[in-house]
Parts: sequence; structure tokens; C-alpha cells
Amino acid sequence: MLVTRQKLLRRFWYPVMPMTMLDAGPRPFTLLGEKIVLFKGPDGRPVALLDRCCHRTAELSKGTVENGNIVCGYHGWTYDATGKCVRIPQNTEASIPASAKVPAYRCDARYGYAWVALDEPVQPIFELTEATDPAYRQIDQFYEVWNCAGLRLMENSFDMAHLSFVHKGTFGPKSHVPRSMSMEASEWGLETNVETPVANPEMARNVVGSDAAETVRVMRGSWFLPFSRRLAISYPNGLRHTIITNATPIDDRSSMVVQWCYRSDTEAQVPAAEIIAFDRAVTNEDKTILESTDPDACIDTTRRIEFHMDSDKPGLIMREKLLALLREYGEEEVHG
Ligand code: FES
Ligand SMILES: [Fe+2]
Repeated sequence: MLVTRQKLLRRFWYPVMPMTMLDAGPRPFTLLGEKIVLFKGPDGRPVALLDRCCHRTAELSKGTVENGNIVCGYHGWTYDATGKCVRIPQNTEASIPASAKVPAYRCDARYGYAWVALDEPVQPIFELTEATDPAYRQIDQFYEVWNCAGLRLMENSFDMAHLSFVHKGTFGPKSHVPRSMSMEASEWGLETNVETPVANPEMARNVVGSDAAETVRVMRGSWFLPFSRRLAISYPNGLRHTIITNATPIDDRSSMVVQWCYRSDTEAQVPAAEIIAFDRAVTNEDKTILESTDPDACIDTTRRIEFHMDSDKPGLIMREKLLALLREYGEEEVHG
């Protein structure tokens, strides 16, 4: 699937940038191949406009922010949060024509990130109960480009068979036999429940609060169409660790991996840096293998054998849901 060619994907919300990155001025982002600029508007909320000045096409992200408006770095044309040009410094007489404007996108702040939907969203931003639960702290983990497709990353997130291969160096169990697994498609995603033994290497012991060589993860996975996942992990000692992973689509071949987590312990018990270091080791294992996959290829669903394997079913359900949704909105899947 070439994500930049599927119009429906423009109708979802994506987390594109930590809000803190906008403190120092405007920042560019490429979302589904579209170049946008983000900045903080007059009320401190994020604004997303096309990153192209309507005067002589300079990128607005090269400019500055003044009183919540963005000022082009070329000749100073100034745009408000709706994309309307409100000042042309060289124009001392005529009023500003209505055509002096740039397209604006829906933009919101949620969970500490700026979210953008390029067209009318078909779904609101997903709710995370941990975000308002005082029992949890939020730790921002990764914001980095991976050269892989969002769907590949989502398939991987729900695929229990890769643990003992890809995660040999971290928590991968020697032989992978999930004790139980269930899955259920929801209207806008998928819910899975897994209980599996995992290795507990030295570097993980403090993070999971156990000195044993093995531990057990009980995991509830939620997939939110199209490229977001919540993985709520609980350990035998009651510790809860919920990971939110988003593969925000940059273009047909790359995604911005935006990941944060919620923990039921405190900074004094386990420092965030230690949690990030362990999840970094795990995530690097995934990154290496996922960047070797084909972003446009689809699993051969006529082969059928994968439908018999719990480890492959979530990826197949995701693919079928996405294809059904495309059809519902009058689109076919586009390949390169
Ligand atoms: S190109 Fe932006 S003000 Fe001239
Ligand atoms: Fe993994």
C-alpha cells in the first residue's frame, strides 16, 4: 500500500511532534507526503499550515513566530492560525487580498503532542485512560524516523512469534509458546490479550522489578486504525507499563515513530532514563528487522496458512479491516 496515494489516510489524526519542539519556533513536518509547518498559535495551541508561502513559495518553517502568527523568512508576509495573510510589510496602501492565504489543517494538542488530520477526520483522537489516571506517570520515549511502513510496524506490534527471534538480546523467550491469546476486532481497530513467559535479562530486572531469570507478561494490545497501538503490560508484582506507539506516515517508505509510555511506579523507584534505555534496546531490535521489510508488499492472503497461526492473525485482521474501510470510502488499495 502506498500511503500517500490513499485519500482515506488523510482523514485520521496523527501525532506529529512533541509540543515542546515548538517552543523555539516553527518546525516542518512531512505528513503523508504533504509538507506542513507547525507552530504555536496565540493561545499556545498548535497550528498546522501548508509549508509554502503564497507570495514566492518559500517554506514558512524557515520563518519566525510573532504573537502567535507565522512570519515568512523571505519578505515577512505574516499568516494567522487560519492561514490568512494578515500583514504584507511592503504594502502600505492596498488592503490584503482574500487570496493571500495558505491552507490550514486541523491541529490539536493531546498527550503532550501536536496532532494533525489533513482532511475531515473519520474518528476522534483515541482516548487513553492512563493519561488522566493519577496512578500513572508519562515518559516520552522516542521520536525518530524509521524507514518502514506504518502497517509493517503495526503487524509487528501484535506478532508474538517474532519475540524469540528478533528480541533474543532482550526479553525474547527461548521457545515461544504464549500461554493464552485472544483477539477481537473492534469497530476502529483490534483488541488482543496475551499472556506469555519472557526472559528477564540483567538490564530489565530493575525495570520490571524482578530478579528472576524469567517473568510473565500479561498484555492487552489495542490497535487504533491506522497506525497506532496501545500495549498495556502488567507483571506478576502488579507493575503496569503501557506503551503507546505511533507510526506517523511521513511518506510511502518512512514513518515517524512517536512512542511514550505510562508507568504505575515513580521516578524514585525506577528512573525514566533506565526505562527508556531498556525499551531502546528492544526497539532497536525491531527497527533493524522492520527496516528490511517491503513497505508496499502485502501478505499473500490466498496462502491461508497464516490464518491458522495466532501470531499472524492480528496482522491479517488489520490488513482486511483497512482494505474494507478503503472500499467503504470508495477507494482501492494502491501499489507502486
Ligand atoms: S516568499 Fe514569503 S514573503 Fe515572499
Ligand atoms: Fe518487537
